[in-house]
Amino acid sequence: MNVLQTIILSGLAVAVGMSCTSGQPQGEQVDSAKTLKEAYADKFYVGTALDLGQIKGHNVAALEVVQQQFNSIVAENCMKSENIQPQEGVFFFDDADKFVELGEKNGMHIVGHNLIWHSQAPDWFFVDKHGNDVSREVLTERMRNHIHTIVSRYKGRIHGWDVVNEAILDNGEYRPSKFYEILGEDFIPLAFKFAHQADPEAELYYNDYSTAIPAKRAGIVRLTKKLQDDGIQIDGLGMQEHHGLSHASLEETEKTIIDFANLRVKVMVTEMDISVLPHASPHVGAELADTAAYNESFDPYKEGLPADKMNELGARYVSFFNLYLKHQDKISRVTLWGVGDGDSWKNNWPIEGRTDYPLLFDRHYQPKPFLVDILELAN
Ligand code: G3I
Repeated sequence: MNVLQTIILSGLAVAVGMSCTSGQPQGEQVDSAKTLKEAYADKFYVGTALDLGQIKGHNVAALEVVQQQFNSIVAENCMKSENIQPQEGVFFFDDADKFVELGEKNGMHIVGHNLIWHSQAPDWFFVDKHGNDVSREVLTERMRNHIHTIVSRYKGRIHGWDVVNEAILDNGEYRPSKFYEILGEDFIPLAFKFAHQADPEAELYYNDYSTAIPAKRAGIVRLTKKLQDDGIQIDGLGMQEHHGLSHASLEETEKTIIDFANLRVKVMVTEMDISVLPHASPHVGAELADTAAYNESFDPYKEGLPADKMNELGARYVSFFNLYLKHQDKISRVTLWGVGDGDSWKNNWPIEGRTDYPLLFDRHYQPKPFLVDILELAN
């Protein structure tokens, strides 16, 4: 029996005995124990991002939670261009193949992340052998080849793609990435066109963070309308939802859900987490370039999260899930950006080496006390 079969069988066994409120002993039969995917089955997909250890089957505890609780998965890193085509023409698919196989074995909705992103793009993508910027034609062909090679490999297996990631700044302008410098805004329709050519059945998404900022929301609406006016297929808009205890506001988030849905595309929450730590970056969201030096005062919960903070975190999660449920007719998926707190990028961004508590399961993959509240919302 291989690791995956073990996980599926043990996962089923644990699902029967597992409680949704932390502290209840494992193995105790909990009649009404529902999981996230069961509670939200008729609302929207509930997904999670998988890291490499989970994809390779090394983290059985995490995979049990994934198998029990979620019906959608996305690869946190292994499908990014620096990992999947590190050198021109040299593709590395081992990890991405394992990711897709894991999703198929568990009958999951599988999301590819991401095809075109300014961050984690290998340098070779934009320069010639002399180190000079390549021409429009060369970059266009490199994008086409990258997208066609990857998307066609998983044709009919990956249900949706984050085709372009984070191309709009908080002020609504285009991000001055190398893609934009060389191709202008044309790189966006080109990416969507190439992805559609490679798999006409796959859903195609634009994905960004801080989408509750009015100027950014307007920029994404403008981008989407232009794609639609030019006859380019775009099926969904991803709101990453990297929140804190005091940002983003529910009111602005709701305006974004409504404005995006009015474009007649699916709205999806693609990378949700809620940091409890003091904010150290001028920006909110996920501007990876924004980092700061370690400072004890910004890392107050190294020894554990006080009950009042856990309650505050739970209230924030409940308020956002309430909002998503209110707009379940518009929202097709809510994906958490990681399984357990120890897996989260937030422990190392914008300050490396902190202890954050941003997800629904703790560092031992036990459900947080407020998970039962999130489950009950769906009743
Ligand atoms: O795998 C290597 C490891 O071999 C090496 O020892 C280690 C130290 O250098 O780095 C490891 O790779 C890191 C990778 O995460 C896996 O842990 C990369 O350096 C690090 O840059 C990468 O960070 C990821 C980040 O995107 C940049 O790709 C985060 O895990 C991931 O959560 C984050 O996710 C992004 C979304 O893709 C897009 N939206 C924003 C979101 C948060 O930034």
